[in-house]
Amino acid sequence: MIINRLIAKNWRNFQQINVPLRERQFIVGPNASGKSNFLDIFRFLGDIAKAEGGGFQKAVEGRGGVSKIRCLSARQDPEVAIEIHISAAPDEPATWRYGLGFRQEPRGHRPIYLTHERVWREGELLLDRPDTDDNAAPHRLTQTALEQRAATAKFREIARFLRNVTYPHLVPQFIRFADAIQGKTMETDDAFGQGFLERVASVHPSTRRSRLKKIEHALKIAVPQFEQLEFIRDKLTGHPHLQARYSHWESDEVWQREDEFSEGMLRLIGLLWTLLESDSLILLEEPERSLNIGIVSQLAPLFARTQRIRRCQVLISTHSSTLLAEPCIDGTEVLLLTPTREGTSVKVSSDIDDIRILLENRFTVGEVVLSRTKPKHAAGVSLIK
Ligand SMILES: Nc1ncnc2c1ncn2[C@@H]1O[C@H](COP(=O)(O)OP(=O)(O)OP(=O)(O)O)[C@@H](O)[C@H]1O
Ligand SMILES: [Mg+2]
Repeated sequence: MIINRLIAKNWRNFQQINVPLRERQFIVGPNASGKSNFLDIFRFLGDIAKAEGGGFQKAVEGRGGVSKIRCLSARQDPEVAIEIHISAAPDEPATWRYGLGFRQEPRGHRPIYLTHERVWREGELLLDRPDTDDNAAPHRLTQTALEQRAATAKFREIARFLRNVTYPHLVPQFIRFADAIQGKTMETDDAFGQGFLERVASVHPSTRRSRLKKIEHALKIAVPQFEQLEFIRDKLTGHPHLQARYSHWESDEVWQREDEFSEGMLRLIGLLWTLLESDSLILLEEPERSLNIGIVSQLAPLFARTQRIRRCQVLISTHSSTLLAEPCIDGTEVLLLTPTREGTSVKVSSDIDDIRILLENRFTVGEVVLSRTKPKHAAGVSLIK
């Protein structure tokens, strides 16, 4: 399953979004144009669907409340709304549609409540809130049906899909300084990868071995002199660890643990593990960070291949022309974010005439689309004394 359309209103720096989505979708735009905010819409839906994480109220509060989420240029309209279409493939009609709207009461203790929540399956409206129960007990509108296991019986498939949305934003420092941080986790959904080793530890040993073998194979290509990657548990503490061995060391007995791995190596391990693990939607923030350009140039085909094998969907924010230099990237696979006075606009790059013409003339999206995201007077940055 994939989300093949996103429609949203008043979310952060977007007044309106209405775009189709492909299995592999790149999101490009200048700094602060809203790439992370765009990805956060899907993370928000995932947070709602994870009832144990606190559901809708916690998902809004965790983002600073409605006043922080609602677009500052929204003028009179107080409602924030999101709708997704889910289908088997990008060009197929939607099997499912899920939509919700919410706002905050301007007075009293200012509850956050749903203005609507709707679910359609193959065009048939299965849920249409507020319903008679909501009208009889308005406090019910502080919770979505998505987060209530009993209520989702009829649309379990989308609830499961959204619960499995992953945002693997592995921050090497959190792995390196795990002892100093002493188990303090920053996010309930482990967005910073602090629970990464526990995730590796939790899968069946044969699955873990098979995934680590594939990662080891990639690391042998990416990291000079790298030889071997292993999972171990510390004999004293029982904590899970990864360890690596390199060919240029004198003894075969010398292994390094993950807190000594380089940033790029840690990021690559985290990225590959996620691609091997997920069968839902993966949200990747600038995966090019800390990686050598030779590896970055292989990421786009890697996403396409994993997508084909695992049937997952990958949304990727990026600033990298190397990543987008791959000739097989279609103009429909790149969304261009352009800040305007009325908020950021989101367009499929090949819907913009001059971009489409250049792409038809064998320019790559890296050449054509990224140049559009450059600030006009970028050279001025170097003049700062
Ligand atoms: N409610 C809101 N209304 C309007 N703008 C908002 C709102 N919330 C956040 N923003 C704006 O969103 C911008 C940040 O967007 P975001 O972090 O998604 O950018 P980005 O494209 O990921 O940037 P980068 O490339 O630097 O990572 C900030 O300029 C912030 O002011
Ligand atoms: Mg960002």
